[in-house]
Formats: sequence, structure tokens, C-alpha cells
Amino acid sequence: MILIDGKQISASLKESIREQVALLPEKYGRVPHLVVVRVGEDPASVVYVRNKAKACEACGIRNTTIVLPEETSESALLEKIYALNADDSVDGILVQLPLPGHISEAKVIETIAREKDVDGFHPLNVAGLWQKTPHMAPCTPSGIMKLLEAVGVDPKGKRAVVIGRSNIVGLPVAKMLLDANATVTTCHTRTVDMPSVTREADILVVAAGRPKMVTADMVKEGAVVIDVGMDRDPETGKLCGDVDFDAVAPKTMAITPVPGGVGPMTIACLMENTLKCFLSLRA
Ligand code: GUN
Repeated sequence: MILIDGKQISASLKESIREQVALLPEKYGRVPHLVVVRVGEDPASVVYVRNKAKACEACGIRNTTIVLPEETSESALLEKIYALNADDSVDGILVQLPLPGHISEAKVIETIAREKDVDGFHPLNVAGLWQKTPHMAPCTPSGIMKLLEAVGVDPKGKRAVVIGRSNIVGLPVAKMLLDANATVTTCHTRTVDMPSVTREADILVVAAGRPKMVTADMVKEGAVVIDVGMDRDPETGKLCGDVDFDAVAPKTMAITPVPGGVGPMTIACLMENTLKCFLSLRA
């Protein structure tokens, strides 16, 4: 069984980005600049936003983190985004989700200029993924595809099963696996007899958001399992994934740990997207 080391794979991706970024000032006069906006004090968002700033530092990318109070109005946030869209010193804009309930996430996502949309959430970037036209790809799905590549797993001809159908992970990763020539099935809360579906998977991607929901009986011997979960074990309170790791890992060919699997890849892909935005704004 291979433990897929997302920390190491993301570190080498970040190192490659750092080398590319180091060459930019000579040609363009400055390094890329990512602005991350956090509204309120959601504890997970505080950690994620801090990690994004750290990754920028590791890659030599300029980072500005803007923290707005929980009570910020939707119109004030949209005004902030308009200003960042118009600011030529800013290449990438990320508004950390979830947002407080009084702010429409859909409005925020469509207000960020698609050229600066490092998350790949803008409707035009989503359309680009589904229509195979140029687009910014969402970070977690891209990170998953890179992990598969790093462990030498080509999805072509394989059966891939995705649990979850969110806009952020489930739907786009299913599309990317399809484009990589896997045969893809998506499962969700209404799926009847989920184990009979997941047992067919050569590649199982789990983005269900439920601690330890994937048990050993749901996994085929020799499968590759990618756990996108970031949960708390209800018994121990410790960080865990959507997969019951101790029970499932021995059956797999390769599996991602939580933490240290998909999470670091998401952030490395964010750095890659920031560089991509910088370059395409100058093409
Ligand atoms: N919240 C959890 N994951 C993400 C992400 O990838 N991007 C943003 N903007 N917010 C998130």
C-alpha cells in the first residue's frame, strides 16, 4: 500500500512555482500578487487563509489578506471586489467560503473578474471546464488529478467513483476524470446501495463531508482512494477524513491520509493558478 504524500508532492510543485516566480521581476517588473478576503471569524477559514498566506511566502508570491467584520454588508463586499478587479497591482482574488448567511456566495463568485478568479468558481470558468475551452480550473479537483499522476495512476479505461456532487469538488473532479478517459459514476445521499457502486471503483474519490463514512466493505481490493474529507472524529475530536483510514488503507493500492493528502495540493494548485492569472493578464 502506498501512502500518497500530498505534503511532499505539493512541496515539489511549490518549489517549481517558486523557481518560475523568481524569473518574473526581470521580465515583468514584479511578482504575482494574490489577495485573499476573509469575512468573519469562521475558525476553519482562519486556518485556511493563514495557510494560503504561508504558501504564497514559500513561492515568493506577494499576498495581501483582507479581514472584514462578520457584519460586512453584501454591497460593501461587492464594492471591495470591484476595486480589486480594477486594481492592476492585483492578479488573483480569492474570497474565502463559507460567507456569513446574509451575503450571497453566488453573487460574490460572479463578481470576481474571471481573469483573476484563482478559485475557478466563476460561471465562465466552470463553463470552460465543461466545454473544454480555456479556463481557470478549480484547485481541489486539479490537486486530486496531480496526486493520481504523481503515483502513476492513469485514469484511462478505469472505473472512477466520486462520492459527492458539490460545485467545488464532486462535480468538477468527475468531469476531469471523464476527460482523462475514466468511466465515471457519481454517488450521493440518495444513492441506493452505495457499497455496491463503490466496490466497482478502481479510483474512489470521497468528498462527502461525513467522518469515516467509507468503510472497508465499500472498497475494492487494490483500489486507489482519494479522501477529500476534513472532519472531526466524533469520538476522539481529532481531525479525520471521510474514509475510515485504519480499516480501508490495508485493502488499497494507494490512499491519501487526512491531514497531509489532498489539502496541501489544493493550496499548491492555488499558487499555480495565481501564477497562471499573472501570466494570462500579460499575454
Ligand atoms: N472554502 C473551503 N475551500 C475553499 C476554496 O477552495 N476556496 C474558497 N474561496 N473558499 C473555500
